[in-house]
Amino acid sequence: MKKNLVVLSGAGISAESGVRTFRDSNGLWENHRVEDVASPEGFERNPQLVLDFYNERRRQLNAVQPNEAHRLLAELEQDFNVRIITQNVDDLHERAGSSNVLHLHGELKKVRSVLPGSEPMEWTADLNIGDTDSRGNQLRPHIVWFGEEVPEMAAAEKIVELADLFLLIGTSLQVYPAAGLLHYIPGDCELFVIDPHLTLNITNADNFYRTTATEGMRLLLPRLRKIRN
Ligand code: APR
Repeated sequence: MKKNLVVLSGAGISAESGVRTFRDSNGLWENHRVEDVASPEGFERNPQLVLDFYNERRRQLNAVQPNEAHRLLAELEQDFNVRIITQNVDDLHERAGSSNVLHLHGELKKVRSVLPGSEPMEWTADLNIGDTDSRGNQLRPHIVWFGEEVPEMAAAEKIVELADLFLLIGTSLQVYPAAGLLHYIPGDCELFVIDPHLTLNITNADNFYRTTATEGMRLLLPRLRKIRN
């Protein structure tokens, strides 16, 4: 039986595709304060600004491609039962061919109505004020903003609890509850990390690739293939 390889990915894995990370540029995210564009209060204050911001991100997504790190992770499905938990709202893991991706913080290409608990739907165009569901409720991006619940947390915890191998790639671990998933890693699970700047001492030096996602995946892949059984 294939071993379970669980991956927690963050903005760093998409950096080499040309998507900016959140915390590598002085606290500004694509020139905006995070509170203005990624909080329910920000949306109440200036919904058009928030919709425009995500419209821009959604358009950018159509112009970028998965990189080698996304592709090598997809390739590992030949050897492992790969479960990806991503904090990213892009669809680059899926476009690279990964078949098992859980989005903790929502997806750029989905929207839902502003009513709590509403179902997400696919959305590829711009979203504007006046775009509503069939009952006339305004639509909003299907994104988990700061201060909001993370509905997929329980599912993510269950996935992590079953990990034989765990890979952390391209995340600063600054955001909870996502970062708390590390507490669910079983004691006998081997932990690998790929990140050029992360300083936390969470695994041994051999398993810590302080480099970019693509370079780190190139180095890690042959090692993982050796321990697949
Ligand atoms: N390859 C791998 N990692 C990289 C690269 C690269 N080329 N470039 C930067 N990184 C690393 C940085 O060192 C950092 O540790 O990616 C990480 C990016 O961290 P953040 O910008 O904080 O992104 P992330 O951890 O995904 O943020 C979590 O915060 O704003 C919220 O909801 C948003 O999902 C996001 C969450």
